[in-house]
Amino acid sequence: TPLSHIRNFSIVAHIDHGKSTLADRLIQMTDTVAERDMKDQLLDSMDIERERGITIKANTVRIDYTADDGQQYVLNLIDTPGHVDFSYEVSRSMRAVEGSLLVVDSTQGVEAQTLANVYQAIEADHELIPVLNKIDLPASDLDRVAEQIEEVIGIDASGAIPVSAKTGQGIRETLQAIVDHLPAPTGDRDAPLKAMLVDSKYDPYLGVVVLVRIMDGVLKKGDKIRMMQTGATYGVDRIGVFRPAMTVVDELGPGEIGFITASIKQVRDTRVGDTITHEKKQCAEPLPGFKPSIPVVFCGLFPVDSSEFESLRDAIEKLALNDASFSFEMENSAALGFGFRCGFLGLLHLEVIRDRIEREYDIELITTAPSVVYHVYMKDGSMEELHNPADMPDLTLVDHVEEPRIKATILVPDDFLGDVLKLCQDRRGIQEDLTYAGSRAMVVYDLPLNEVVFDFYDRLKSVTKGYASFDYEITGYRQDNLVKMQLLVNDEPVDALSMMVHRDRAEMRGRAMCEKLKGLIPRHMFKIPIQAAIGGKVIARETLSAMRKDVTAKCYGGDATRKKKLLEKQKAGKKKMRQFGKVDIPQEAFISALKMD
Ligand code: GTP
Repeated sequence: TPLSHIRNFSIVAHIDHGKSTLADRLIQMTDTVAERDMKDQLLDSMDIERERGITIKANTVRIDYTADDGQQYVLNLIDTPGHVDFSYEVSRSMRAVEGSLLVVDSTQGVEAQTLANVYQAIEADHELIPVLNKIDLPASDLDRVAEQIEEVIGIDASGAIPVSAKTGQGIRETLQAIVDHLPAPTGDRDAPLKAMLVDSKYDPYLGVVVLVRIMDGVLKKGDKIRMMQTGATYGVDRIGVFRPAMTVVDELGPGEIGFITASIKQVRDTRVGDTITHEKKQCAEPLPGFKPSIPVVFCGLFPVDSSEFESLRDAIEKLALNDASFSFEMENSAALGFGFRCGFLGLLHLEVIRDRIEREYDIELITTAPSVVYHVYMKDGSMEELHNPADMPDLTLVDHVEEPRIKATILVPDDFLGDVLKLCQDRRGIQEDLTYAGSRAMVVYDLPLNEVVFDFYDRLKSVTKGYASFDYEITGYRQDNLVKMQLLVNDEPVDALSMMVHRDRAEMRGRAMCEKLKGLIPRHMFKIPIQAAIGGKVIARETLSAMRKDVTAKCYGGDATRKKKLLEKQKAGKKKMRQFGKVDIPQEAFISALKMD
């Protein structure tokens, strides 16, 4: 296909504004898939993605379209992940295309992720086509939403296309607008190969399938290629395009998007954003802006049933095959036994992995409180990355601790603004900006990531009745008064409950944890002190009083079978206990204590 007849685009939208439905319609309208092959949502391939209504891994599809001028065009759609945790992947996919459809739900308006994604598109120099979706709904308000796009995003929305991805109205106009308004790609067929590694996926039959965008040169089957960032070399086995089913082609030229397989064993060997070139005739410089994605949120995953440790290892290793940004190492906790310390790109990423282990591998898990990566500066001048609060070095050796900060953007209807400001303030936030877009406020806060990983989304949703939208990016590290707080039960530290807290909030947190634990640990024959401490100094304390009578005592010695039943019940309960010195703590207590209120 000549360059002039190729258009590459992505769709930017807030979650639930109709990106997948629209993509399905575009594919359907052009007969790319026969009607009977059309599943509900072709682009979202994993069950969990569908259930949660989010797109996790970028997908792509090649659409053949006969335009108004009677000529055939090739339209390549790259589907980008819709969530903040994957913003680097989004930025890479954006660099692989020349334009975007900006989809806004015309019953809702611009939301936080609309903004975050559209800024990425603008940064990638995209031509934008505003699409107002869901016009079939009575609440659709085209004028208001078009005005809002102009006001908040600052682009011309007079040519916005009214669409119903549900009924198919406006789909033909959208396809034609892609041909008319988006620029054709540029590239030099005779130059050395320069291609971007946009995404990769593990396929049980084909091995790793790599999604590429060719910038210059031509890629053919049998070519020896080199990944410029990792330095690895491979022979290309297969070249193809997604229609959306995988279809083999002879070659991919400049401007084209497709896949290759090359006997790559694991997704870890591929890096999103890497530059692919020919081993023999290399391009002069790699594509700019490569950044390996690194985990920022860590937590421990332990099997509830310790005999499932090996199955958990197996599940984690399989998931890691297909996810280069998920890291893990074995961890041994006195409280929870053997498990894994795992690193994620963000909270959503964590939730997705945890859910997949529980559902696809049927392993019940205990997840310890998520923690961010702290930078611990030692008195001797060295710096340690702290992934697990339990590993915090002795305070006397520590000079200071830095924590990651984020820039959070929240869009919220006026009525809830007060609650949102209070929430951010309570989480040690610093307000950076407050502006209005129609009847909605846009607030920008500088917040510690640590205060967001616990339960910020949930709190935000509940105080705004679900009306707020939220997006964030990590801005850097800053020093603060951060300390490790330990929980001691009968004077024994419980490692799984160690956490990093801000000194000013430690007492409050400590008191809450002690009270909670007091309610969760069963009484013993002796008094049990429950304490929160910072570096040996107790800051909160509760005492669980001793059990006065034997459990069977209240049976008044009468009914023997009842007595026996009670004792059996007690025995069964024992099994799920963990011993801390002389104290038995039920597994359930850890799970509940780690849940935030
Ligand atoms: P993510 O994959 O989470 O990013 O969401 P999405 O933007 O892909 O949204 P999706 O296509 O899953 O649509 C969200 C919901 O809106 C679904 O229930 C769709 O059926 C519905 N929907 C999408 N387009 C339209 C439309 O034009 N009209 C109506 N009435 N509903 C629509």
